[in-house]
Amino acid sequence: MPENGNSERAAVSVIGLGQMGTRIAQALLAAGHAVAVWNRSGGKAEALAAQGAVRAESVEAALSASPLAVVVLPDYATVREVLGPVAEHLRGRVLVNLTSGTPEEAAQAAEWAARHGAGYLDGAAMSGTRLVGRPEALFVFSGARDAFAEHRAVLASLGGAVHLGADPALAPVYDTALFGLAWGALAGFYHSVALAGAAGVGPAAFAAVATEHMPFVTSLMAEHARQLEDGRFPDDDGTVDVHLAAVGHLVQTSRAQGVGTDVPDLFAALLGRAAAAGRGADGIASVIGAIAEGGRDA
Ligand SMILES: NC(=O)c1ccc[n+]([C@@H]2O[C@H](COP(=O)([O-])OP(=O)(O)OC[C@H]3O[C@@H](n4cnc5c(N)ncnc54)[C@H](OP(=O)(O)O)[C@@H]3O)[C@@H](O)[C@H]2O)c1
Repeated sequence: MPENGNSERAAVSVIGLGQMGTRIAQALLAAGHAVAVWNRSGGKAEALAAQGAVRAESVEAALSASPLAVVVLPDYATVREVLGPVAEHLRGRVLVNLTSGTPEEAAQAAEWAARHGAGYLDGAAMSGTRLVGRPEALFVFSGARDAFAEHRAVLASLGGAVHLGADPALAPVYDTALFGLAWGALAGFYHSVALAGAAGVGPAAFAAVATEHMPFVTSLMAEHARQLEDGRFPDDDGTVDVHLAAVGHLVQTSRAQGVGTDVPDLFAALLGRAAAAGRGADGIASVIGAIAEGGRDA
């Protein structure tokens, strides 16, 4: 119900009902929030109306329906195209932009929202659509702290809702960095599945053991983050030289099995650069010099 005497009737409006926007609206409804929805083409909004959402007839109506608007469109250019003509309806509201983009686009969107009197949170959905609404779905947000605090309960209906900081650019920074992490891990996984497969091990059998191994890998991230902050690289988890030799075994074994070596070749090359820069006797985390600085030592 309205808290400020205007026509607001919903807790949150969702603008853009593609795969992600629809799942977001459904999760908000499942958590018991009053949800207004708008989509360019009608069918998706009608389907959500049948599930309890209020279908807004226009973008203005969607913005006016609630104090919080969640926009989920393909890119920032589309966000500008959709919200630009009705920007005056943003005044006094909070805009949460879950559209994927770059840090620069997020900063520009935050400035644009501020010029129109709106609070702004940039955000990123990190766990695809399947987990939305469950605690294990990670949503990251950045931007105005008071806006996040005010709407935290609604945003937490989407999953784990993490506020990264006041700089709106942080959400896309984490979005792209976490994707990079996932792709690196998945590249290793697919290579390992191929190698295990050549030895007659099925993907599911391998995955069952691989997932047991992951807590150790994530513990290395926490420990190596400490080393990177200290700028000291003890050899407790193996030196660059030790890992270089081990990756060499993986490359040899892959070749012998007829499995491609592109994935381990990349890490072997990076370790080789770190060794050439004099890091061979340092801990493996010192390879960051070969990665972050384009081959120059850290
Ligand atoms: N899907 C995922 O797993 C996932 C995960 C993380 C992040 N994301 C991000 O979420 C955002 C949306 O992705 P999605 O998968 O939901 O996309 P999608 O399924 O392709 O849906 C796109 C939505 O944008 C609307 N749209 C497109 N062009 C428009 C325009 N010119 N004016 C008004 N509305 C327009 C579409 O409306 P119509 O229905 O009328 O075509 C539709 O509602 C993207 O930035 C994506 O990177 C998606």
